[in-house]
Amino acid sequence: MKTFRMRVDGQATDVEADSETSLFAAMTRAGIAWPVSCRNGTCRTCMARLLQGQVRYDIPWPGLSPEEKTEGYCLPCVARPTADVVIARA
Ligand code: FES
Repeated sequence: MKTFRMRVDGQATDVEADSETSLFAAMTRAGIAWPVSCRNGTCRTCMARLLQGQVRYDIPWPGLSPEEKTEGYCLPCVARPTADVVIARA
């Protein structure tokens, strides 16, 4: 397991995010409120823009189109960091 830094755009401090935990779980642990519903990558309620860094998904079908992934969208409820990341609300 690796630990990365995550910054939520507009927040003053960084959050620790490990490679085995979702970005949403890391935000929750740090007390950052983020919209969420299904928590399994289908409803898109949590959709965010990945401004910097990279993520991976354990599920083969996160609810994003290939174009959305290319444009930098991610689903924090199922996205796990593979580098330091900066995200913003979509
Ligand atoms: S909460 Fe439903 S896709 Fe993230």
